[in-house]
Amino acid sequence: MNLNLDSDLARRMADPGEMAAALAAARAEYRRLAGLGSGDKDWPVTGWLRCAEAAEQLDVIKAKAAEIRENADVFVLVGVGGSNQAARALIEAVQKPGGPAIVYGGNTLSAHGVARMLEAIEGKSVYINVIAKNFETLEPGSHYRVLREAMAKRYSKEEMARRVILTGTVGSRLEQIAKENGCTFLHFPRRVGGRYSAFTPVALLPLAVAGLDVDAYLAGGLDMERQLAAAEGGIAAEYAAVRYALYRRGFQVEMLSAFEPRLYWAQQWWKQLFGESEGKEKKGMLPASMINSEDLHSMGQYMQDGLRFMTETFLVVDDPGASVVIQPDPDFGDGFDYLDGMDFANINRAAERATIQAHAAGGVPCTMLRLPRIDEHTFGLLYYFFMVSCALSGRLLGVDPFDQEGVEEYKRSMFAALGKPGAGR
Ligand code: PA5
Repeated sequence: MNLNLDSDLARRMADPGEMAAALAAARAEYRRLAGLGSGDKDWPVTGWLRCAEAAEQLDVIKAKAAEIRENADVFVLVGVGGSNQAARALIEAVQKPGGPAIVYGGNTLSAHGVARMLEAIEGKSVYINVIAKNFETLEPGSHYRVLREAMAKRYSKEEMARRVILTGTVGSRLEQIAKENGCTFLHFPRRVGGRYSAFTPVALLPLAVAGLDVDAYLAGGLDMERQLAAAEGGIAAEYAAVRYALYRRGFQVEMLSAFEPRLYWAQQWWKQLFGESEGKEKKGMLPASMINSEDLHSMGQYMQDGLRFMTETFLVVDDPGASVVIQPDPDFGDGFDYLDGMDFANINRAAERATIQAHAAGGVPCTMLRLPRIDEHTFGLLYYFFMVSCALSGRLLGVDPFDQEGVEEYKRSMFAALGKPGAGR
């Protein structure tokens, strides 16, 4: 089972010379990244390139997840940005039944949102996983406070130690807290940034708690790692090159479209990856997303007929994962008899094909990324593919895909406004 990238329609709208040069540059950049050694400039931030190395502490994670699944009614995943998106996207896409309810915390400053999170754990057996790379980010830090307070009213110190799992970098304050309180500590590898942490303990514990097959997921990442290595960046270099060649022709937005609503959080993950990696120095494509067919009734108008400055990448899923056939109802007279006997899976596919055709005819460069199905292995393939693509794409653009100075800037001014010691006013 594999991913398939079809960029023919999109490439037609790029300058052929520009496209060839971008592809050669993307491949060269892939070779450079893949051959990095510990003395290289990018070494400190590319630990994610080798899935097997990124996936630390698997045994600890599996054992703890089994305990949580056995004992918890609610599991709160406390993290923001790269510290929760990969797990959330896969959990929400696969929607495995059973296990504790999963609540996402540490990702808002809304009092209403925090109150709902606290309500969700009231009277329930709760475990929490606080994930923060350097443990300075306001949202996870503040949510950990209120969750701790709520839990300490019900649980002894020993029980709290069992129920709180902390994920951070070795040497961080969070590791000290884990030691002081006897909590399980999971590694946020130092050489991996948040949005590239999909194959690290950051995502692996929540995935295992949700009952997902982490081995199949990691195998997917490893499969893609091998494929790209065997073909000088393969489809990742191709995707990066196409978007760069189109960007050079004035296309400034990439719309990621899907006809499966359960891919909504995968789109959010993708937006974070590309937005935070590329939007720098007044450069970069704006990542946007649509869930169809619903958004065809809103943004569809713009895509078809608005300004021509966006490309569109369709996440096409081969296996619909369900079948619902429309039964005849001849006497009702609702005007929909032409659908008799049709499966929604085929209706959705027909809508998808029609949309691709119409948008391409309307002047949108369309790329299709085919996913065999929505499962753990496919997400492994997908995440690795997009992470490498993003690193290559950022390099083609001439920005550093691994930093996020813009985000740090807003954090600094917020800390100052809140009176954090040392932040200035
Ligand atoms: O990709 C990134 O580096 C960011 O989105 C971070 O993941 C996000 O800001 C959260 O950071 P931290 O884990 O330090 O709280």
